[in-house]
Amino acid sequence: MSISSIWLFTLFCVIYGSVAEHHVYRNLQSVSSGSTNQPYRTAYHFQPPKNWINDPNGPLRYRGLYHLFYQYNPKGAVWGNIVWAHSVSKDLVNWTPLDPAIFPSQPSDINGCWSGSTTLLPGNKPAILYTGIDPQNQQVQNLAQPKNLSDPFLREWVKSPKNPLMAPTSANKINSSSFRDPTTAWLGKDGHWRVLVGSKRRTRGLAILYRSKDFVNWVQAKHPLHSTLGSGIWECPDFFPVLNKGTLGLDTSVIGNYVSHVLKVSLDDKKHDYYMIGSYNVAKDAFIPDNGAKEFVLRYDYGKYYASKTFFDDGKKRRILLGWVNESSSVADDIKKGWSGIHTIPRTIWLHESGKQLVQWPVVEVEKLRANPVNLPPQVLKGGQLLQINGVTATQADVEISFQVNNLREAEVLDYWTDPQILCSKKGSAVKVGLGPFGLLVFASKGLHEYTSVFFRIFKQQNKNLVLLCSDQSSSSLNKDNDLTTYGTFVDVDLLHEKLSLRTLIDHSVVESFGGEGRAVITARVYPTLAINDKAQIYAFNNGTTDVKITSLSAWSMKKAQIS
Ligand code: FRU
Repeated sequence: MSISSIWLFTLFCVIYGSVAEHHVYRNLQSVSSGSTNQPYRTAYHFQPPKNWINDPNGPLRYRGLYHLFYQYNPKGAVWGNIVWAHSVSKDLVNWTPLDPAIFPSQPSDINGCWSGSTTLLPGNKPAILYTGIDPQNQQVQNLAQPKNLSDPFLREWVKSPKNPLMAPTSANKINSSSFRDPTTAWLGKDGHWRVLVGSKRRTRGLAILYRSKDFVNWVQAKHPLHSTLGSGIWECPDFFPVLNKGTLGLDTSVIGNYVSHVLKVSLDDKKHDYYMIGSYNVAKDAFIPDNGAKEFVLRYDYGKYYASKTFFDDGKKRRILLGWVNESSSVADDIKKGWSGIHTIPRTIWLHESGKQLVQWPVVEVEKLRANPVNLPPQVLKGGQLLQINGVTATQADVEISFQVNNLREAEVLDYWTDPQILCSKKGSAVKVGLGPFGLLVFASKGLHEYTSVFFRIFKQQNKNLVLLCSDQSSSSLNKDNDLTTYGTFVDVDLLHEKLSLRTLIDHSVVESFGGEGRAVITARVYPTLAINDKAQIYAFNNGTTDVKITSLSAWSMKKAQIS
């Protein structure tokens, strides 16, 4: 960027506000750009050819095809001019873009078509409920249905003439700027549909419940499905059943004593996706969190991740989770590269056998992209050792590594509970203690002037071992304009009986890591300046003072997916 354009840019940025979760840079919303040098564009994570994207919307499988809609600015690389862009896929990996499915066209959405969900009505008829922004900038809920059900691509959508179907009024006292993102609806035994809309009353976040017999006339229930004090607005709520035992997914309307229910919300105040596990009291139409939990603690992803949504894949009988990963680069850099935002690799999601948390794993189809496998023999990784993983394309790879830790006596003592993210920031990959840090260095430049480290550290607390998983971006780039926050979480792994595994998907500017076989997930964005293209390297490392054993290590170069 030239000096004069930086000045201009600074001036533009002064003229901005904030809508929903998003900064609004009015003068940049319709500025089209994009340089030809694109080291950070992803090769197998979903993103359109250019411009801004955020939330995945209304994913579904229809006539054997997967449909993904998403919040998209057709005119620029910052949030604004929002429509529902549309892509279809046979395998959740390769995607074909279609024209936007929903865009402002009637009073009830003339100022924007915001997030929402799809429901399959009897007779396999998809219906989209989405938030529209009306002429008074009120948030209202609208219905759209396919024009032609025999088109498997579902290219054209017709909006209901009865829109809006749900709206704030003086009688219902709904906050008109905090009323959005309808869920997939579910059908009760009484033949009535139910849907949730995210909202807040002062600082209380809530999921407003509506019921309908015909999907057109909706009546607000007296009580929300659930609410929590102090959480702020619930964006993009998601509510679905999971099997108590097993990994198969379930249709959203399934109820029974063999299932638990998950309530997930995107907390705008915290900018993270949280969930609770509990039960759905059908008689009261209420969600009851397990163990009387009063607030959200668990997260899908402990890195950069927001506005996720699940759907039931009736082909492979699994529940699939999609999420948005924002950039960690400056707005000036986003404008320069001409795009902003990607989606994670779709993840299969199920309840862990403990019943206490969900497990996530990249859909099996992504393994089709694996090429040139590199398998290293089991070996001891000595304290202080760095082991280069040669033979894979280091900027576009999938790495699976498993550790066995024997000397648990050497673990550092942690006297009191500490926030894992703070623990990871204080004890980065360079800080040596007993057991750990050990893990992977990715996007590492020659001489390690730049690297991102994903690693474990083992602690001892009252005769129990605590496993910490960190993703440390603090040395990921010489460009310090980026958000270099370190992320971390504890992983519930029993080291006496289990190995400690890490899988990391590396894709040019994203590092998506799954610890403990999917019990902890951290996604990070990085923008190396040296470790790009063929200059990047991957290492396994142990910077602890105690040896650990690598029991297996497999790495693959990843082929490019057909996306845009
Ligand atoms: C979440 C969100 C939603 C809203 C959409 C607007 O990122 O703020 O609440 O519907 O984005 O693009």
